[in-house]
Amino acid sequence: MLHIENLAVSYGRAKVLLDLNITVGEGEVVALLGNNGAGKTTTLKAISGLVKPRGGSIQFKGQAIDGLPSHEISQLGIAHCPEGRRLFGGMTVEDNLMLGASTAGARRKQAQNLKHMYELFPILKERHRQHAGLLSGGQQQMVAIARALMADPELLILDEPSLGLAPKIVSEVFEVIERVKDDGVTVLLVEQNVAQALGVADRGYVIEQGTIALSGSSQELLANNELQTAYLGI
Ligand SMILES: Nc1ncnc2c1ncn2[C@@H]1O[C@H](COP(=O)(O)OP(=O)(O)OP(=O)(O)O)[C@@H](O)[C@H]1O
Ligand SMILES: [Mg+2]
Repeated sequence: MLHIENLAVSYGRAKVLLDLNITVGEGEVVALLGNNGAGKTTTLKAISGLVKPRGGSIQFKGQAIDGLPSHEISQLGIAHCPEGRRLFGGMTVEDNLMLGASTAGARRKQAQNLKHMYELFPILKERHRQHAGLLSGGQQQMVAIARALMADPELLILDEPSLGLAPKIVSEVFEVIERVKDDGVTVLLVEQNVAQALGVADRGYVIEQGTIALSGSSQELLANNELQTAYLGI
């Protein structure tokens, strides 16, 4: 579904990504791991057209998308749930969700998709009239994920959905990702919570120094000595 080849991104003179290669198959959950500043968010922004690559190619369902404006990329079926959630705290949960129905197709199916989100996330149905800013961190993360899903994407990219949440809530967020996967959505997941991310993912990639230093199935990565030392503290 997604093929990233030799991706290079710079901010000014700082080369952040060099020669990065990632593939994501239909129906997979793929984890993208790496330390702070490794370039994970930059990779997701390059996919969704928020930063312009300096080199390489990004193909989505066989079509080159690098260089396209972000609204065109979202029309093609990629939804980006950004780092830090970015909800409108003074608006209701439901109004936040409606904003996610950003493509023509999703607008036609808005009522149906909203109903489906309330089935996936029953707590959001209970809270649909509340201001999003009054929800707990975990609930706000569910709103952010559901808002992205309101665009009816084939590929959902999630940037650190568990950031800043208490351990129990982190587990709930990972359960939500399982539900999204069972729903047939392909997921590219950026996480610092390595063990839990590999618990839900089929495969994973580790970015170091702007390139993929390690990749494999989740089982392979969890058993890898380098990864255990660097990311799991084993
Ligand atoms: N808009 C920008 N302008 C200049 N430098 C940037 C910009 N955005 C990110 N960077 C730099 O690029 C590098 C990669 O940043 P990025 O946000 O992609 O990392 P990350 O892996 O997502 O980190 P984190 O885990 O902290 O979110 C960092 O050194 C960062 O300081
Ligand atoms: Mg980041």
